[in-house]
Amino acid sequence: MHSYARVPDCVHFWRFVVKAHSSDGDSMTDLRGKRILLGVSGGIAAYKSADLVRRLGDVGAEVRVVMTAGAQEFVRPLTFQAVSGNPVHTSLLDPEAEAAMGHIELARWADGVLIAPASANVIARLANGLADDLLTTLCLATEAPVAIAPAMNRVMWSHPATLANVTRLAERNVTVLGPGDGDQACGEIGSGRMLEPLDLVDGLAGLFPAPALTGLHVLLTAGPTREAIDPVRYISNRSSGRMGFAVAAAAARSGARVTLVTGPVELVTPPGVERVDVESAAQMHQAVMERLVDCSIFIACAAVADYRVATPADAKIKKRNAGMALELVRNPDILADVASVEQPPFTVGFAAETHDLQANAEDKRRRKGVDMIAANWVGRPIGGFEAADNALEVSWEGGRVALESKPKTRLAVELLELIGARYRASRTPDYGAKA
Ligand code: PMT
Repeated sequence: MHSYARVPDCVHFWRFVVKAHSSDGDSMTDLRGKRILLGVSGGIAAYKSADLVRRLGDVGAEVRVVMTAGAQEFVRPLTFQAVSGNPVHTSLLDPEAEAAMGHIELARWADGVLIAPASANVIARLANGLADDLLTTLCLATEAPVAIAPAMNRVMWSHPATLANVTRLAERNVTVLGPGDGDQACGEIGSGRMLEPLDLVDGLAGLFPAPALTGLHVLLTAGPTREAIDPVRYISNRSSGRMGFAVAAAAARSGARVTLVTGPVELVTPPGVERVDVESAAQMHQAVMERLVDCSIFIACAAVADYRVATPADAKIKKRNAGMALELVRNPDILADVASVEQPPFTVGFAAETHDLQANAEDKRRRKGVDMIAANWVGRPIGGFEAADNALEVSWEGGRVALESKPKTRLAVELLELIGARYRASRTPDYGAKA
């Protein structure tokens, strides 16, 4: 006997989305120029996918269809070839098809992947990272966003194994569209129907959010600084640059013009980002201040050395004495200086703390006069410097949000959404008064 788990909220989110098509059956979604790879897996709902191809075409998408072996038991590839106007892809090991458009090329071609219907079997294979046919291989090989439209018998849908698989995919950012409720092909009534083609077209639009920062110039700092002691030694810190580079990449993807002033790191420049390499805090300060004209948002993610050696030696210091003392002087505070220019951009600071995270971050935000601060723990086994994951406590005057631990790449996207929203609020006339 089965035990039935509660359907996790994330799995059913689509039900609460307002439909974006008009009552006369036309979608108001615009997918002009978008290249959609439609995966059709084995299920009776596969017959609806031919209509889905037509609906996607109506809103301007170019569609290529990949069918699993199971899908071909329900609908013939010729049907999809006729409605999509493109050859249908069915096999990973077909030299002729590979010669025309290989599976890696196909994975790169797609702006978005939709699997409709997504059977319990294909969901399980995706959740486990299998690549045992063309469709699952493409899903592993693509960097495009993936959506699934589950379709199966209600008992199969509510089985804990299926729900665990769907939850796993949702956690990996796969968008789950549906399923819907109602009469099922097997004669039962319940949850597990594939959403109607128009609902899927509208749901797919969620994969391509309008760039939120188009037209803005975002200036960032990232990485550590190095403060010379002599020509071969320096004072620095553990910053890898990962957090700042992730934020820069997310800003570029959001449509902003992005300038990234970075200390020495071993990271590849994200696409669409202008990179300025510096070493010391003084150089970083100069590079930032020179680029403030037309800057809308400044994000200080760099771990800038607060002090530098007063007089770095010209030659390598010899170890003649048992000990030595270095005289340190304060470096300029880049963030505070940006926040105090006559017409400052929207300023976002980071706070790296080993104790009293929130109190110290708030103190920094007020002292430096910045609009928003993102605080993270450092010096702990998880998060902060060097790690792939991080968590942030983001606060501004009158507001606070905790962003849970996740890969810095995903955290950066969430942080930028907050920054974008607060930036837009800051452009309203009563911003200062409300704050
Ligand atoms: O690079 P990773 O390995 O991915 O690690 C990420 C990170 C931990 C470095 C990052 O998330 C972070 O916390 N960056 C800020 C580190 C820091 O120096 O924090 P702070 O609390 O000392 O400084 C407060 C703010 O003032 C920061 O925005 C900092 O960039 C800025 N600052 C500090 C000193 C200075 N002279 N000029 C500045 O602009």
